[in-house]
Amino acid sequence: MLDRLFKKKDISVILGEPSENKEGLRRSLTATNLITLGIGAIVGTGIFVITGQAASMYAGPALTISFVISALGCVMAGLCYAEFAAMIPVSGGVYSYSYTTMGEVLAWFVGWILVLEYLFACSSVAVGWSGYMLSLLNEWGIHFPEQIAGATFDHLKDGSWVWTGKIINFPAVFIVAIVSAFLIGGIKQSALVNNVIVVIKVGVILLFIGFGLSYIDTSNWVPYIPENTGGYGNFGWTGILRGAAVVFYAYLGFDALSTAAGEARNPQKDMPKGILISLLICAVLYIGVTTVLTGIVNYKDLNVDAPIALAIDRAGEGLAWLSPFIKLGAIAGLSSVILVMMLGQSRIYYAISKDGLLPSIFSKVSPKHGVPHNATIFASIVTGLIAGLFPLHVLSELVSIGTLMAFTIVCISIVILRKTQPDLKRPFKTPLVPFVPLLGAAICIIQMVSLPWSTWERMIGWTILGFIIYFTYGIKHSKLNNK
Ligand code: ALA
Repeated sequence: MLDRLFKKKDISVILGEPSENKEGLRRSLTATNLITLGIGAIVGTGIFVITGQAASMYAGPALTISFVISALGCVMAGLCYAEFAAMIPVSGGVYSYSYTTMGEVLAWFVGWILVLEYLFACSSVAVGWSGYMLSLLNEWGIHFPEQIAGATFDHLKDGSWVWTGKIINFPAVFIVAIVSAFLIGGIKQSALVNNVIVVIKVGVILLFIGFGLSYIDTSNWVPYIPENTGGYGNFGWTGILRGAAVVFYAYLGFDALSTAAGEARNPQKDMPKGILISLLICAVLYIGVTTVLTGIVNYKDLNVDAPIALAIDRAGEGLAWLSPFIKLGAIAGLSSVILVMMLGQSRIYYAISKDGLLPSIFSKVSPKHGVPHNATIFASIVTGLIAGLFPLHVLSELVSIGTLMAFTIVCISIVILRKTQPDLKRPFKTPLVPFVPLLGAAICIIQMVSLPWSTWERMIGWTILGFIIYFTYGIKHSKLNNK
């Protein structure tokens, strides 16, 4: 039994597997494409929405420190991702890496965590999209019916669930449906479209930082680290740590880049570049936005769906011209994140199903469009439902805990693989092993334990559900174990 659970895939077998793309993936992505793809997948709800909520609920203006801590964890994990992505440039990402290092049951666990990451990331970005869309419509004098413009349920700080009185967050469901329709139609997010969206979203962020600077009221930064109001995570230094864990979400997406390794022209050299440079650019942008945001609006007022839009309103007449640009930039920018996350989600169902751990229906490819249509339809229904029913903070904290766990596993896997398979060809090597991976894992674990207990409960529930599926289905149908 234990043999079955921990049976490992051979790396050479994975590298020799035929590509899932029948037409053959074209190695067309350059380092620059990878960097813009990375930024396209990273910059989204995290910076446009969650920054405000995390400042107002946990860290105050010191959220800038949270962004630095979180970036450190991401860079360390990013270095480990880069080593894997250059060594095993196949789709399936961390799930495939774990199958070679830790065996089937842990690979399943990682795959299941990735489903959580992509599913909840996608639905939470859709909720963020809805917030900006409603705010733009409002500006144009179109008032969307309140009943269908917000989450059905909310989870209060005291741990209780309440019905908000609303039926569903319709715009969030709408954008999920639109993106899915695009994906099922086989329309690939071309590097060009992505580049245009990246220029728009980075452009509006730079405009906000550049023009917002002169509207900063430095009294909003006092106290820079608000005093702890009691309990772990409510401001003070523990608040900064909890803030780091929450805004960690804003950096996600660089890991999705590793799934594009099969399409990179020179994955060995360019994947590490793509991952690390896109991360660094985003870190600088995020710290800039947070500085200006908490300088214009007092952190206590920032718990809103569209905080950057609020800051522009507060700045008064002088910045009013920027408002529609920011909203349009956010709407375009969030759409590309939804697209990439949705793609990632269907790819994960597809990769797991190909190994037999999920029903084969998920790995069927539509002959007409060349996409795993069943996996995409399934992903869109579940994502749409979750996006329509739940509030952003519940969804994003779940994403953070799941991904922090995946990153910890990647960091530890690098150390294991260096010991167990020292002779593998490693075109990119994480520096200072085991120091960097272990520090990366430690930073991720510290952030994980800083998340609210309610998030842990949901994570534990998710894990139990995952193991029930594995032990009632996956273990019996595993291709590796039934050869
Ligand atoms: N990093 C992505 C975002 O912030 C998930 O929207």
